[in-house]
Amino acid sequence: MGVVVQSGWDGGDQRAVLRPDGLVGAPLLRAVFLAVLLVLLTAMVLMGAMPARADLAGPDGGELFANHCAGCHVNGGNIIRRGKTLRLAALERNGIHDAQRIAAIAAAGLGQMSGYGGVLGDGGPEAVADYVWQQAQLDWPRA
Ligand code: HEC
Repeated sequence: MGVVVQSGWDGGDQRAVLRPDGLVGAPLLRAVFLAVLLVLLTAMVLMGAMPARADLAGPDGGELFANHCAGCHVNGGNIIRRGKTLRLAALERNGIHDAQRIAAIAAAGLGQMSGYGGVLGDGGPEAVADYVWQQAQLDWPRA
């Protein structure tokens, strides 16, 4: 660290070494540099880890429900066919006894309801079905 200015024209001793950061500045700069490096590395590691964690968790069933099902099944109801709600009593009455059956309906549709396999994506039908089944057990508490 330092700027060497050499007059050089006479080859004499007129050489001046300028150290703008001096002996105190250099370690401080190094510390700041290391701190910035550490922050950047930490950010990179965190950013790299986040998508991996999201992949492990799979799609968010509640979010899928809000985006693709709530239009007709708001709060677990059914705005088109009143007897075919997502409430436990209705599901049981209509022969739906587990999340797997709901996933199949979500993906392929049922009667008047078309299938949503395409928009729900990989693991989507299962995730949304888990959410629906769980909400049914809890009697759709947010209703
Ligand atoms: C455009 C309106 C609409 C959307 C959106 C919709 N459904 Fe349906 N859903 C219906 C209708 C209508 C029925 C009754 C079908 C029939 O039996 O003819 C139904 C029935 C069901 C049933 C059976 C309920 C019962 O009591 O028998 C389930 C489970 C279900 N839907 C889940 C879902 C899920 C999960 C989604 C989101 C991926 C979804 N539905 C999106 C209209 C819709």
